[in-house]
Amino acid sequence: MSREQEIFDDVEGLVLEDARQTYSEQVIDHFMNPRNFGVLENPDGFNAMSGICGDTIGIYVGLDNERISRISFVTNGCGPTIACSSALTCMAKDLALKEAMKITGQDLIKYLGGLPVENTHCADLAVNTLRSALAKVS
Ligand code: FES
Repeated sequence: MSREQEIFDDVEGLVLEDARQTYSEQVIDHFMNPRNFGVLENPDGFNAMSGICGDTIGIYVGLDNERISRISFVTNGCGPTIACSSALTCMAKDLALKEAMKITGQDLIKYLGGLPVENTHCADLAVNTLRSALAKVS
């Protein structure tokens, strides 16, 4: 292993140690390994929304018989925003459109094992973006 790689690993370890003081393992996992990230080709619905902090989330959905068969997200947001978007796509995949519309910010926070109060708006932004993308399904 190169010296640069050792330094990188040390720094990553320190950052993770620090993050574990604040965030659940699920939040860190979804942030470090985001699921369903990227642009979806030929979506049936898409919308992007920005939060009070200026972060933006875009969610793409593809439906098959009123069920979400494909879903992805893009964001320019912080770690919790990435974690919320990633986790929400996992929650919504394979759900009927009407069921996915019922997911709340609190459901998402519970799925993630909690979020600090200052990040609860990230969950609300992700859920509102999903709902607006579903409302635009053509
Ligand atoms: Fe604003 Fe996450 S910090 S959406």
